[in-house]
Amino acid sequence: MSEHLHIEREPGLLTLRLNRLDKKNALTRAMYSGMAEVLKQAEQDPSVRAVLLTGGESCFTSGNDVADFIQAPPGGLNSEVFQFMLALFDFSKPVVAAVSGPAVGIGTTLLLHCDLVYVSRDALLKMPFVNLGLCPEYGSSLILPRLLGHARAAELLLLGESFSGEQAAAWGIANQALDDGAATLARAREMALRFQQLAPSAVADSKRLMRAPGREELRRVIEEEGALFGQRLRSPEAIEALSAFMQRRAPDFSRFA
Ligand code: COA
Repeated sequence: MSEHLHIEREPGLLTLRLNRLDKKNALTRAMYSGMAEVLKQAEQDPSVRAVLLTGGESCFTSGNDVADFIQAPPGGLNSEVFQFMLALFDFSKPVVAAVSGPAVGIGTTLLLHCDLVYVSRDALLKMPFVNLGLCPEYGSSLILPRLLGHARAAELLLLGESFSGEQAAAWGIANQALDDGAATLARAREMALRFQQLAPSAVADSKRLMRAPGREELRRVIEEEGALFGQRLRSPEAIEALSAFMQRRAPDFSRFA
């Protein structure tokens, strides 16, 4: 298990905390593998009634580790990130997210696959895929236009505009915006613990029914996005943008047609 994942167990609840604060909880291949493994084990463990996903009180995640993107770009359905995405997509029990500080890239898109999402008002959410020479991932090109309408989704996905926790709650991406990281984590934990009192099969059946419409179309879109994302990671546009991030400069796309 990655040293950058912290697991806590209490009756009925497994809490998975990202623990790489010096890099704003940027997600490495080892972290994705570990998260996929935790979800697969939790799926089989009847004592786990819900999973709480958090990065702590100050930071959710800055998204995929940019150095990993450059050195070992994921490609194909066997990649660690894809294995994690599918484990979350297929997870039958409720997943509750507590989000404070930055939630960038996959840090925002994975929320679309959680069941309950609590955010700090001033959390910073964004999906800067185009800004990095990439494309949307994990079903967001399908889910977000349906949820928000094309115009607002285009600001988020084509311009990479950031938005606050307050906006996420107003737009239906999150359940509730809270004053700070401690209040957000406490509220998410309180709601996640409620599942311990509920009939587990009834919860799982209900989640499955809620997710069933359009599920195969969504899976197909996730695979199509994943294949394109893998190609784009190797494109000159993405190499320029990712190198610019590492060199702390603005990317220059002027030479691209
Ligand atoms: N991958 C690798 N390292 C990252 C990272 C990422 N996604 N996000 C942040 N870091 C590193 C920084 O390089 C820096 O490392 P250093 O201290 O060794 O120089 C450290 O984490 C702190 O980041 P910093 O940018 O100084 O913090 P900040 O509070 O000013 O900004 C963010 C936080 C999340 C807004 C900003 O780091 C950011 O935009 N990160 C990139 C997000 C991104 O593009 N993710 C990929 C999406 S597909």
